[in-house]
Amino acid sequence: MADGWVDNYEDIMLKRKLGNSGIGASVIGLGTWVTGGWMWGGADDRESIKAIHAGLEAGIDLIDTAPVYGFGHSEEVVGKAIKGRRDKVVLATKCGLVWDKAEGVLHFTSNEKTVTKTDFTKSVYKYLNPGSIRTEVEQSLKRLQTDYIDLYQTHWQDETTPICDTMSMLLKLKDEGKIRAIGVSNASVEQMKEYGAIDTAQEKYSMLARKLDENGITKYCPDNNVAILAYSPLANGLLTGKINEQTQFGEGDLRKGNPLFTKENLTKVSVMLNEFIPIAEENGMTVTQLVMGWTLQRKGITHLLVGARNEQQAIENSGGGKSLLPEQERTKIDEIISSYFAF
Ligand SMILES: NC(=O)c1ccc[n+]([C@@H]2O[C@H](COP(=O)([O-])OP(=O)(O)OC[C@H]3O[C@@H](n4cnc5c(N)ncnc54)[C@H](OP(=O)(O)O)[C@@H]3O)[C@@H](O)[C@H]2O)c1
Repeated sequence: MADGWVDNYEDIMLKRKLGNSGIGASVIGLGTWVTGGWMWGGADDRESIKAIHAGLEAGIDLIDTAPVYGFGHSEEVVGKAIKGRRDKVVLATKCGLVWDKAEGVLHFTSNEKTVTKTDFTKSVYKYLNPGSIRTEVEQSLKRLQTDYIDLYQTHWQDETTPICDTMSMLLKLKDEGKIRAIGVSNASVEQMKEYGAIDTAQEKYSMLARKLDENGITKYCPDNNVAILAYSPLANGLLTGKINEQTQFGEGDLRKGNPLFTKENLTKVSVMLNEFIPIAEENGMTVTQLVMGWTLQRKGITHLLVGARNEQQAIENSGGGKSLLPEQERTKIDEIISSYFAF
């Protein structure tokens, strides 16, 4: 296989390593932000559990969650879903976004009503203090019903805590066997350098969001054997082609009023996606899988974290990690994209 990142090929799913950790993980990871319900207009736990099981059966082993997704709810649902299957999962969660204390840097205040029925207002702080991380990891382990986390990531960076203090706690947790690999998220190249021995960087990347190419992350990470876990690779569902002007987003759905989902942008993206249809058909893929295939082969990008609300979405998305997309197809896709968007 030409791609040096691929360490294992199975019929069902490509795998790549999480940096220097030695852990191989499916190139398609199941993102469980939506599973928490918060910011997505709610979620049905039974559907979420079916989605996780369907993903695992279709070859996805990487599952990404975070305490803040539904204020503990996503981790709890993931914990229930993987009970009895823990050895089949590369479990990734995060630390550093807290809502039970006003410490660090205020990230934002949420008034979303779909998760907590009575206590709507929550102020979320970026806080990576070592003692707080210790508390967070214990809470995550309990919610996830496990005694170790495969990949532990700092969710957003906190300017009030020196990175060396955060990192020494992460290394301690690794020594204790509570976590197996260390990752960062929403971090700059400079911050990654300060962390030192990290295995992964979780950053936003899609056909429509390519800041990583400009800020040097897609160069720094492969040069330093740091895996990039691209988040929101379907642009919150926009790149599936199913969202149009008639789509009604539920109360609290982050896409309601979001500039990505204006009438003008929806039309432009939909016309672009229509041009992908013959390429997808020639390659035996859906348009969503084609979008994923293109993203997966961008320089530095090793894994995609894709959210799935139900079984059907999880199965379709797992299909995006079964084979590599030939270069000539990627070139055709690049040409189409550049006739709609300038990067
Ligand atoms: N580190 C961070 O700061 C950060 C930030 C954002 C995300 N993330 C991670 O990345 C993951 C994915 O990002 P994301 O959830 O923002 O966006 P995404 O993966 O681009 O979009 C996910 C949404 O698109 C829709 N969808 C997914 N597959 C589909 C399919 N096959 N057909 C039709 N619709 C489909 C579903 O929503 P509907 O059914 O409601 O349309 C789903 O919730 C998250 O779950 C989380 O793990 C991390």
